Amino acid sequence: MPKTPDYFKGKTLVVTGGASGIGRATALVFGREGANVLCADIDEQAAQQAARAVGEAGGRGEAVFVDVTRRESVRAMVEAAIQRFGRIDFLFNSAGSAIRRAKFLEIDDELWDRTYALNVKGTFYGMQEVIPHMLKNGAGVIVNVASTAARSGGAGLSPHYASSKGAVNTLTLGAAREFAGQGIRIISVSPTIVDTPFQDINAAGAFERAVSNIPLKRAGRADEIGELVLFLCSDACEMMVAETVYVTGGRQ
Ligand SMILES: NC(=O)c1ccc[n+]([C@@H]2O[C@H](COP(=O)([O-])OP(=O)(O)OC[C@H]3O[C@@H](n4cnc5c(N)ncnc54)[C@H](O)[C@@H]3O)[C@@H](O)[C@H]2O)c1
Repeated sequence: MPKTPDYFKGKTLVVTGGASGIGRATALVFGREGANVLCADIDEQAAQQAARAVGEAGGRGEAVFVDVTRRESVRAMVEAAIQRFGRIDFLFNSAGSAIRRAKFLEIDDELWDRTYALNVKGTFYGMQEVIPHMLKNGAGVIVNVASTAARSGGAGLSPHYASSKGAVNTLTLGAAREFAGQGIRIISVSPTIVDTPFQDINAAGAFERAVSNIPLKRAGRADEIGELVLFLCSDACEMMVAETVYVTGGRQ
């Protein structure tokens, strides 16, 4: 829960990847706090379902199509949020994927380009399109999603993905330090394995094996990442800027 009661009531969150997994769960957590939430996703139908669930949770939910790999689509998402809710207080850049598992020598140009377009360019576009609006307001919080893979390297599984999440963290550092003096806080979260459709690309048994290496002996839940994002967007600890917050269950 936020430090200030009703802190999120009537404030607006835009969440990319808001139709599924961590993005959807975060939308619902903000909905519970009475926020306006724009669920933006390439899967518009599922985004609409998520928006309805935000309404049932206690917030005001709306949905919009976005392809975060296309700047004009991200710009339209930001304009839609301002048109529907008046302003944007928070952006959660959750859209992302490892696309498929690959060892280092198996990564082809197509996999590399798709991964970077989604995870890096998508995050870059989201920040670049919303920051001018937040600068006008003199306030705003952006939370990006990296991964523990950024520090493990994704050896043998997804170096393309791991390195793209390293880029997300570095982009977060640079943008955060540039705008911290102007009322905008930018931060990233780096979860370990979270039980969402993201994991569907794994070979049979790989998810269970990976979870068994987590000292807590379970995967993360999308809703607990949502609670962390709520905390980061709140007024509870505004000193948290630029760095990434690891959520590991004790895993290295
Ligand atoms: N689940 C995990 O284990 C885990 C761990 C660490 C980090 N992450 C990161 O968390 C974020 C959310 O992942 P998740 O677990 O919720 O996965 P998910 O697959 O449940 O959700 C991802 C969402 O992104 C959407 N999306 C894909 N391409 C898009 C595009 N071009 N434009 C807009 N939306 C698009 C999908 O439709 C989907 O709704 C991702 O950035 C992922 O890399 C996930």
